[in-house]
Amino acid sequence: MNFLQLFKPKKSYMCSLMNTNLHFTSRNTLEPCCSANIGPVFAANLSERNSIKGFAAEKEKYIKMLKSGKIPQGCLNCVHLSEYKSDNDLKINKITLNHYTQCNCACIYCTQGNRTLDKIKEDANKPVLFDVLKFINELYDNDFIDKEKLYIDFQGGNISCLKNYEEIIDTFLQRGVGTIYIPTNNIVYMPAIEKLLKMKKGEFCTALDSGTRETYFKIKQVDKFDKSVENIRRYINSAGNDSVIIKYIIVNGYNDNMAEFKKFIDLMLELKVKIIVIDIDYRDIIDKPFKIPDVYYEIIDYAKNVCANNNMDLGIPPYTQSVLDKGFSSR
Ligand SMILES: C[S@@+](CC[C@H](N)C(=O)[O-])C[C@H]1O[C@@H](n2cnc3c(N)ncnc32)[C@H](O)[C@@H]1O
Ligand code: SF4
Ligand code: SF4
Repeated sequence: MNFLQLFKPKKSYMCSLMNTNLHFTSRNTLEPCCSANIGPVFAANLSERNSIKGFAAEKEKYIKMLKSGKIPQGCLNCVHLSEYKSDNDLKINKITLNHYTQCNCACIYCTQGNRTLDKIKEDANKPVLFDVLKFINELYDNDFIDKEKLYIDFQGGNISCLKNYEEIIDTFLQRGVGTIYIPTNNIVYMPAIEKLLKMKKGEFCTALDSGTRETYFKIKQVDKFDKSVENIRRYINSAGNDSVIIKYIIVNGYNDNMAEFKKFIDLMLELKVKIIVIDIDYRDIIDKPFKIPDVYYEIIDYAKNVCANNNMDLGIPPYTQSVLDKGFSSR
């Protein structure tokens, strides 16, 4: 290093997720983010704690670290890092609930570990890792929450298997929340979802991944295609289609063919679904190098065409889009 470099200002970083997001994880921890990187931990051993007091000091420590140009180990190479800006909002505007893993189906692609029907039966009887509600109340009591902007993302497990989900949703509604996002396998009809959709406070998302009962069964390992379709119909009939999102995760060798996708699209038109999302199985993006097959592009072109002609929205997650643009995943 030469003499002049000593006076050069160090690069200063920030991360808006670190500033404003919280993630209750199935690692028994409170972390800032739910990104591809596993960032720092704000509080550990939540199952043995009655309070998350101290998380704010940890958060401040990491924010200062970034500001001084040091990147915490877990944040290295993270796409969310940006240059430091001084007008930072520090109130919490997104909470991800991922503290439960119980589910009532066994999607072959599930990111919650290898699921088998035996394992999900075993998991269903396990108690939830920790009581998240006391920590949520603590965040409100100490004025950490941006009540108008707050976005709740129920990940999990499946919300219908979380025994106190109604109490959690009601707490958010009573104490102040913007939107509650509920991804679900949609096997169980939930009046709470209907209520949130009617109040314009909820977003419902389910990955149907198929247009036929047979393909659904191969992917989800439960015979619940008809039930899921019936539930989508019920939500739309009673609460409209503004915040109903139906996903098609393209699973290599299972539903990656035009015949299946056309049946899915016909069903979406019949159900009057307005928003569809196409994704790629994360295992193909993350686990191994994968050349995107031509049929994936044919499926997406077909979807774009149908959506444009039928006033439907087509969503493709940004990371998936970047892999599609490159034509391959490179891990
Ligand atoms: C782990 S799930 C939990 C919520 C709920 N059980 C569900 O499946 O909708 C969270 C989200 O990740 C998606 N997901 C899980 N594994 C995936 C994979 N391998 N590729 C793409 N999306 C996946 C699911 O479709 C769901 O939208
Ligand atoms: S930089 Fe990345 S890993 Fe670190 S807190 Fe932000 S989103 Fe999480
Ligand atoms: S419904 Fe969700 S949590 Fe359950 S197996 Fe499928 S992806 Fe995993």
